[in-house]
Amino acid sequence: MAGAGISTPSGVPDFRSPGSGLYDNLQQYELPYAEAVFELSFFHQNPRPFFSLAKELYPGNHRPNLSHHFVRLLHTKRQLLRMYTQNIDGLERQAGIPPEMLVEAHGTFATATCTSCLREYEGEELRPDVMRGVIPKCPTCKGVVKPDIVFFGEELPRRFFQYLTDFPQADLLIVMGTSLEVEPFAGLAGSVRGSVPRLLINRDPVGSFCGRRPRDVLLLGDVVAGVRTLVHALGWTQELHALMEAAAEKAPTKTEE
Ligand code: OAD
Repeated sequence: MAGAGISTPSGVPDFRSPGSGLYDNLQQYELPYAEAVFELSFFHQNPRPFFSLAKELYPGNHRPNLSHHFVRLLHTKRQLLRMYTQNIDGLERQAGIPPEMLVEAHGTFATATCTSCLREYEGEELRPDVMRGVIPKCPTCKGVVKPDIVFFGEELPRRFFQYLTDFPQADLLIVMGTSLEVEPFAGLAGSVRGSVPRLLINRDPVGSFCGRRPRDVLLLGDVVAGVRTLVHALGWTQELHALMEAAAEKAPTKTEE
């Protein structure tokens, strides 16, 4: 399970870190409160704040870091059952984790839907408007086209419910870079069997890791440092570096460490 904290080393701000998180940096948009940026009723009134954020978070502006590549390596080694992510920056896909191994619980910029006639679009079709700061409109009905990001109160994608069969099968749960403040995602951490070890790699203890289960392990501090420690203990350091170098050769700019 992952959240915005795995992408801060790639330069993507998280939501709730005091000072640097997005919710502390939305003053310029004069929102009634920070979370309104992800609320449908507010979006219908004024979609600009959301599209300013979208410009920042749109896939293609950032590169995956060691944490994303670690999950890719787990997949390569057939150790990954599934990655459940709350992130909307697309860095998991960019790291080469196949979409069928991913549950993007809070949606994705890869696709979009007209809020009026429900016509579906590819995220790339919206990119020129989003990058120019223009609100994307549906050519058919002139409605606002909204990237398929899950707003507060909206249903989660159908794939999310795959957790009902995934979590009871897991024999290890790794949770990285999330405050575990948003339900129903946060509750997934409690869905593994009681005997299953859970590893939290995060700056601070969060959610159900505060009242620990006997087999919980907390690796507190920077997520990249934590993942590096784990990878070293597994004896996978060279393989991970080889995988990152191969990814960097494919990408136009250097992969972030
Ligand atoms: P948060 O911003 O709530 O939490 C990020 C967590 O990662 C915090 O516990 C940070 O301390 C930690 N963190 C940040 N950078 C780190 C680093 N370099 N190393 C280690 N830990 C680090 O982000 P999420 O939990 O992802 O919803 O937020 C959940 C949801 O709230 C988001 O998906 C978003 C938001 O409303 C939507 O976009 C719909």
